[in-house]
Amino acid sequence: MPRLTGRLVVASHNAGKVREIAALLGPLGLEPVSAGELGLPEPDETEATFTGNAALKARAAALASGLPALADDSGLEVFAINGDPGIYSARWAGPNKDFGAAMKRVWDELSATGADPDARFVCALALALPDGSLETFEGEARGSIVWPPRGEKGFGYDPIFEPTGLTRTFGEMTHDEKLPLTHRARAFEKLVASLK
Ligand code: IMP
Repeated sequence: MPRLTGRLVVASHNAGKVREIAALLGPLGLEPVSAGELGLPEPDETEATFTGNAALKARAAALASGLPALADDSGLEVFAINGDPGIYSARWAGPNKDFGAAMKRVWDELSATGADPDARFVCALALALPDGSLETFEGEARGSIVWPPRGEKGFGYDPIFEPTGLTRTFGEMTHDEKLPLTHRARAFEKLVASLK
């Protein structure tokens, strides 16, 4: 990937995610601009993998804007239930974003198997250039599913995810405690290393 300078599109319409990604990109001297600000359409996530969906979003934004574009896709994989909810992590919560119900479904399906509660969060990042070139990076955070949910600090599936070697869930950690342990931070480390 050539050395990047100037504006870079963050291909997400989620304001929280754009802020988080912008903070991580700032030190690289890049000027993040969101897909929403540029009025770019949000493509449907039609691929079967995190990396496929991140690539689809980054490519669409780079082509539409003529600028380099970065997209991410992430979710929770529980090994005993075939990696579910996986790429459907957001969709399991439904239109009302009911993560209480989504976490209960994870627990019900997992406990019905009687298998180990091993799980991981995954984050795929894709960086696309307007000339069609693409690079992807993946980060993971390993842990176990616990029940009942514990902690109210995080979002999504944080209250049922206890990272390996620790005794608190992501939901019981402050933002600053959780950040360096995450799948997103690990994927970003790889991206940043490739840009240097
Ligand atoms: P995306 O916005 O399409 O990448 O969907 C990601 C979904 O995965 C979110 O809605 C969350 O449900 C879940 N997820 C991803 N990362 C985390 C995390 O760090 N903690 C809790 N849930 C997460």
